[in-house]
Amino acid sequence: MISADYDGLVAATRATLERIASDFTPAVFASSLAAEDMVLTDLILRAKLPIRIFTLETGRLHKETLGMLDRVREVYGYDIEPYRPDPAAVDAYVQQNGLNAFYDSVEMRKECCRIRKVDPLNRALAGQRAWITGQRRAQSATRTELAVQEDDAAHGMAKFNPLADWLEEDVWHYIRSNDVPYNPLHDRGYPSIGCEPCTRAIQPGEDVRAGRWWWENPESKECGLHVVDGKLIRIKQIA
Ligand code: ADX
Ligand code: SF4
Repeated sequence: MISADYDGLVAATRATLERIASDFTPAVFASSLAAEDMVLTDLILRAKLPIRIFTLETGRLHKETLGMLDRVREVYGYDIEPYRPDPAAVDAYVQQNGLNAFYDSVEMRKECCRIRKVDPLNRALAGQRAWITGQRRAQSATRTELAVQEDDAAHGMAKFNPLADWLEEDVWHYIRSNDVPYNPLHDRGYPSIGCEPCTRAIQPGEDVRAGRWWWENPESKECGLHVVDGKLIRIKQIA
């Protein structure tokens, strides 16, 4: 079921994005090209807000996810900017540890995420006053404290989660009623989508994030993109 005040939720989200565009320039939106991020993309681009959209193109994304870059260009005439890892760092990691060393240990996995996601994120955020994510409170028991506006001390800027109050049903209602393009993997058992080797489809009844880094313990499942008070959000909230 969608939220009782769905229309109010959409209006509040529009207002948040307008406030970011007027009071926090320059601001950027980090899009993983998954469903939540397509809602924000639609809201930003239809309102022609001066918020730049980028994606962390790790080199290990599904072809369906990469295809969303073309879909966004077709539908909105907008080029989402890909941030790629330093090729020398990727080469060194692969030579020393192997292409898929992230299955071997949490340390090897975090090192891969650092090279392919965290370092490019830091480059994308340099010089900004705010960044935006598509995180929602209801996505996981570990995001229950998520606020619409946070102070991201680690990056020295404001961080906005405009969909913090949205339910999964609200996201899909928005997508369907506004003809928003979405990653076809969502129709094949992938509610949450990361890199291809680190994401699997889930079975009915499984947690929506069960398919992410499924071989690890829940408390280590963190790629390092979302940090609060110097701690990884999920670890802080589980503790
Ligand atoms: S993750 O931390 O486990 O990867 P999740 O996939 O739920 O997070 O995405 C949460 C938010 O992090 C997204 O809405 C998006 O803002 C940001 N994000 C995650 N992956 C990427 C990516 N590859 N590129 C840009 N932003 C991303
Ligand atoms: Fe590497 Fe997997 Fe992290 Fe992607 S999600 S950066 S492939 S460890």
